[in-house]
Amino acid sequence: MSSSRVAVEDLDAGMHADPDAVNVLFVCLGNICRSPMAEGAFRRTVQQLGFKNKFRRIDSCGTASYHSGERPDPRTIQLLAKHGIHTSHLARQLATSDFNDFDYILAMDDANLRDITSAQPKGSKAKVMLFGNFGDNKREQVQDPYYGGQAGFDKNYLQIVRFTKGFLREVFGAEADE
Ligand code: 4NP
Repeated sequence: MSSSRVAVEDLDAGMHADPDAVNVLFVCLGNICRSPMAEGAFRRTVQQLGFKNKFRRIDSCGTASYHSGERPDPRTIQLLAKHGIHTSHLARQLATSDFNDFDYILAMDDANLRDITSAQPKGSKAKVMLFGNFGDNKREQVQDPYYGGQAGFDKNYLQIVRFTKGFLREVFGAEADE
């Protein structure tokens, strides 16, 4: 592994996390394209910007179970590799326990947001939001790239990095300029 490569597992142990560190879960439909991409890119970006200690767990899952146990789509693996990010994620479906295990549950699109919200137990701690809430227009969708070409994946990645910086700014008051 070259020095610029970051193993996505590096942040999982949470061994050096601040006492007020948060857990973040990214959710799409299948957990093979957008949300594992978001998990890897978010982890990498917070590490690069020096916010690693602000997070204990960063994970992803899908609202559906079609692809449970599978590796991410080859186009996501390739896109992440192009940016020096390795992923060993295996797809899983959203679980009821996630609503108390995670502080933020971030949906890729409005359909994901509706499905997550309707599964949320009353009184559970997670803040469920559209990830695009941390973008410029607040309602930005990370569109499903599954049936499209590579361009959709490239667009998703740029949005995810932008929203990650928005998240760091809004939640931690970070100076994370574009
Ligand atoms: P994702 O993309 O929700 O970004 O993982 C999809 C993956 C698979 C399917 C749909 C979307 N599918 O219909 O199998």
